[in-house]
Amino acid sequence: MMRVLATGEKGDDHTATMFLSVGDPRPGALRSASDKNFIPATFGSQAARKFSNRSQVKIKQTTLNPRNLKNTPDAYEENVLKRLATQPASNTSITEWIDNETTLRALTPIYYSQDCLACHGNPKGILDISGYPREGAQEGDLAGAISIQISVKSR
Ligand code: HEC
Repeated sequence: MMRVLATGEKGDDHTATMFLSVGDPRPGALRSASDKNFIPATFGSQAARKFSNRSQVKIKQTTLNPRNLKNTPDAYEENVLKRLATQPASNTSITEWIDNETTLRALTPIYYSQDCLACHGNPKGILDISGYPREGAQEGDLAGAISIQISVKSR
């Protein structure tokens, strides 16, 4: 039994609002947004690893020039991200069966809101509090996408 719940209130469609639960989640294995040193993306990466280890479902966040190389897009994701970057902001996920209908790919775009810019905004290149250079992003820019890949053996 697996449930992916992604809530997306207006202006709040970041990974921080995404909670994953799998068959027997260890209590406290996935921490909540109330954590003191909470970094949405770190939460996302950790959740993604736990999730991916246990199922035929792969979930990651990705972007064209990732801070964390683990978030590097694969060829499919890169294509979709490039397409999203040229389109107006949208809450719509892009969902498609590929590889002879054995793999479902779904990408949900994420856009920068004001809260993100302390780390991802200007001045570009200056280190944020987590030690990464800022991207120089502006509110509303495409930040990346949540990517979900589900493989089925037979349908
Ligand atoms: C406290 C600083 C901080 C804030 C605030 C923050 N981020 Fe990040 N973000 C990070 C760090 C650090 C990483 C790299 C995480 C990792 O190692 O996986 C990251 C990575 C990402 C990634 C994954 C791609 C990559 O570069 O590896 C996306 C997408 C992203 N952030 C979007 C956002 C959005 C959208 C917001 C606002 C809702 C936001 N971030 C707020 C620090 C921050």
